[in-house]
Amino acid sequence: MKIDFATESLDQLAVPALGTFAFDDDPAANGSVCHLPETTRAMLAELEESGELTGKVYETTLIHRPAGLEARALLVIGAGKESKFSTAVLRRLAGAAVRYLRARGVHRMAWVLGPKTSDPESVQALAEGAVLAEFDADTYRSERNSVKRIDEFRFATGGQAPSDDARAAAERGRVIAEAQNFTRELVNEPSNRMTPEMLAERARRMANEFGLDCEVLDETQIQALKMGALWGVGQGSDAPPRLIVLRYNPPQPPPESAPLIAIVGKGITFDTGGISIKPAADMHEMKTDMAGGATMLGVMRAIAQLKPSTRVMAVIPAAENMPSGKAYRPGDVLTSMSGKTIEVLNTDAEGRLALADAITYAKQQGAGVIIDAATLTGAVTVALGPAITGVFGWNKDWVNRVRASAEAVGDKMWELPVDEDYRDLYKSSIADLANTGGRHGGAITAAMFVGEFAGDTPWVHLDIAGTRWSNEEKPYLAKGPTGHPVRTLVHLLTHMQA
Ligand code: BES
Ligand code: MN
Ligand code: ZN
Repeated sequence: MKIDFATESLDQLAVPALGTFAFDDDPAANGSVCHLPETTRAMLAELEESGELTGKVYETTLIHRPAGLEARALLVIGAGKESKFSTAVLRRLAGAAVRYLRARGVHRMAWVLGPKTSDPESVQALAEGAVLAEFDADTYRSERNSVKRIDEFRFATGGQAPSDDARAAAERGRVIAEAQNFTRELVNEPSNRMTPEMLAERARRMANEFGLDCEVLDETQIQALKMGALWGVGQGSDAPPRLIVLRYNPPQPPPESAPLIAIVGKGITFDTGGISIKPAADMHEMKTDMAGGATMLGVMRAIAQLKPSTRVMAVIPAAENMPSGKAYRPGDVLTSMSGKTIEVLNTDAEGRLALADAITYAKQQGAGVIIDAATLTGAVTVALGPAITGVFGWNKDWVNRVRASAEAVGDKMWELPVDEDYRDLYKSSIADLANTGGRHGGAITAAMFVGEFAGDTPWVHLDIAGTRWSNEEKPYLAKGPTGHPVRTLVHLLTHMQA
């Protein structure tokens, strides 16, 4: 999708469709509708009178050959209550407009920018919403939805030349949303097309395209580094594990004192549960168990283009959790790279094992801050549902920084506690740690287990088991992989202050 600006006056702008939004109190006169010519608004007033135009959120009213405009059609999207308006709402309105119009054969559209929506944050959110709306999960269907595309999305300024800030914001929005769509593409791939080596190959290709450093450790190197936990998870599969490492170095070398930020993403390309095998019913969903890793690849793709002044390293432990004659068993004791020994009480609690060694590796490479994202527990979905990510960590400063970034970009997150007393829950009688802490507080003990390997290094954990996927089609977003929380982490890494 090409994103650009159109500087003709609104009545003169000749496009197949012009998009606007309206609040629910007086939808013919408010929102960005208020910038339209008098005659157009008079026509909308009639529609409001008849009850067709209400401004209810995501309501779509399409007017062909609208009075007073050169545009072939005018789309008014309901924005709901003005008191609840935000950039998060705006992002969704642009998405709803794109999905509505492309389904009706429109390929080029413009979106009315008013004074309230031409600030950089709004422009960025609109661009993001438009690009995110393009994605569809039907990669392998012969007749794809997304062949109906909006090729060109222009911001209609009504005559003004856009500021440099507005142009930069539009570009930033495109870059970030394309990165998020890249994550969604990876998460969507079935596991026969996404083994650990295939994930590594995608990472290499992306790194080459955007000028990042990429190093992939194979099974021999993983064993040589004594990553017994990651190796244990991967040993049952014919598709051997990989440790994928990407590095971003800012154009201007930062001061020595600036921390290297490690972003660590769980990359289980399929999670059968192993010998503690999962029930058949929803097992196919476990193709998405590399969503944390895919998130970090999306984040790296964005920052390679946005070039923040922070050094960032992504570490993705990739493995397939399979039952087989070579598989690890319940009761096995693994020695992790850190030296800590782990009793495996459940081979389905594999994510924390893979993360343990990835985090130790990140620390060995000099990470000063560690942020991980993982589809770690069903328990987090029981607690927070499908739309809210669980945030965990001992370091309140870093937890709050992540939460503030989430808030700024419209990703929903909620902090769940970590608690010293719960460390007893994952004690083992034979080894240093056990890999499960029982059913109660399962998301917390899983997080805390991972945190044991971060040690004193500031660490934040995001459990995205619920938010990686949306089972519901939204007016602004396809059903399927969400690419959550790419925007949060990109925001964090591009807004770092010492
Ligand atoms: N990948 C799963 C968690 C998951 C569940 C992600 C549903 C997405 C949707 C993870 O590896 C797992 O199996 N966790 C177990 C942990 C338990 C064995 C302690 C769980 O949540 O049941
Ligand atoms: Mn599992
Ligand atoms: Zn898993």
